[in-house]
Amino acid sequence: RRPDPCIVVIFGASGDLTKRKLLPALYHLEQSGFLPENFAVLGVARRSLEATFPADMKDGIIKGGGVEENEAKLAPFVDRVQYYAMNFDDDAAYEGLKKKLAEMDEKFGTKANRLFYLAVAPEYFSDIVSYLGKHEMNKPVEGANHWVRTVIEKPFGHDLESARALNDEVNKVFDEHQIFRIDHYLGKETVQNILVFRFANGIFEHVWNRNYIDHVEITAAESIGIEGRGPFYEGAGALRDVVQNHVMELLSFVAMEPPVSFEADAVRNEKVKVWKAIQPIHPADTVRGQYGPGNVDGKPVIGYRQEDRVHPRSQTETYAALRLEIENWRWAGVPFYIRAGKRLAKRVTEITIQFKQPPLLLFKGHEGKGAEGIKPNVISMRIQPDEGIALRFAAKVPGPNMSMSSVNMNFSYADAFGASSANGYERLLLDAMLGDGTLFAHRDGVEATWSLITPLLEAWAKDPVKDFPNYAAGTWGPAASDAMLKSDGRKWRKL
Ligand code: BG6
Repeated sequence: RRPDPCIVVIFGASGDLTKRKLLPALYHLEQSGFLPENFAVLGVARRSLEATFPADMKDGIIKGGGVEENEAKLAPFVDRVQYYAMNFDDDAAYEGLKKKLAEMDEKFGTKANRLFYLAVAPEYFSDIVSYLGKHEMNKPVEGANHWVRTVIEKPFGHDLESARALNDEVNKVFDEHQIFRIDHYLGKETVQNILVFRFANGIFEHVWNRNYIDHVEITAAESIGIEGRGPFYEGAGALRDVVQNHVMELLSFVAMEPPVSFEADAVRNEKVKVWKAIQPIHPADTVRGQYGPGNVDGKPVIGYRQEDRVHPRSQTETYAALRLEIENWRWAGVPFYIRAGKRLAKRVTEITIQFKQPPLLLFKGHEGKGAEGIKPNVISMRIQPDEGIALRFAAKVPGPNMSMSSVNMNFSYADAFGASSANGYERLLLDAMLGDGTLFAHRDGVEATWSLITPLLEAWAKDPVKDFPNYAAGTWGPAASDAMLKSDGRKWRKL
């Protein structure tokens, strides 16, 4: 099914996201035949970029989307990209915007359907939303079968209170079914595949519980630093930047009960149940880290406190590890260990499900050369890069002795399906145009994850860390993180 004719209106179009992710994603969708014939993009931002915007976007599509420079393909797409300069707090300018959109409807046949994409700093969210309401751009044009939707980029709030306030603001203007809060992790194939793996196969769900699983680890490691986003990151930190959203989404997919259908509300409700079942996270079950100078990929890099526009005694964490428990029938007593950080040894996002040992270790003492004992079964889901799933199990080493080793059964996306260019945004933009909210966050979910994270942020703020920086760039994070697992008799999986 193709979406209805529409205009995607991107507020904050001069920013990095538009050029690097959104336009390449829209272009890929168009090339694959997923966009409607009558389609246009309007970039909106403060600066006067009318003359350069389309060419700049073309450049972004080529570089950000890894697309070949093919004028015959690119030109018809870029011809449908326009720009409108305005200040987001300028009441009168919204009338001009409305007029511009009406003109575009005439020209492109987009039938007054609108997807307002808010790719702006959070302080502008409420201005934009309330002016759209005031100028009656929040409702479909009367008498026609039209729609208006809004996509809101993270950060969706700064803590529970601000998230609630923002939800209230947005809900005054848009109904919940018109709001698409985007978390690009949900657009990743590997993340959606967690549900397929669990619920489209007959063999895993039976062992997916406290009777068989020893613990779960979720690692979201990045080797990049803060990439010049000093002021943003100083106010965020790892917990707000990726744990409250991306990591919590991963956790909910791993832990949720089977939904009754793959409809938006059914899926979202199961996710919220998981977050609500997580017990308050005690500060003693957490570790904060901040990177100092070090080496990444063989090159020296500066520490966090030396980054541009970062306070020289900053208390912002660039690494967070948590131990948490989900108190429900499926998971009671199974620890979930989470770690996320910048400037770690490598970029890898992976979920590890470690199973319990068999009740009787028949073959103790028969481990093959080099093996550290028979390792428990592990299902590892590699979200990125080298996307795939592996199952680790014990095998007999060929030969006259009863000698054993751990081996892997591997599924690789690249081998099975070929390389994919999708960046997560493609699927999500398409779903928003189709009005399918299954892979978006809803109000309850956002508030449930903030309810978990906010007390921790408050506890951390009251208790400044004395040993920052406490890990060197290019390592696996602070020693205290390993110690946290060690005290439970466990170790982070080597990735
Ligand atoms: C963003 C964070 O939401 O996700 C960034 O703000 C982070 O700090 C990024 O680098 C990670 O996304 P991905 O898709 O590269 O894993």
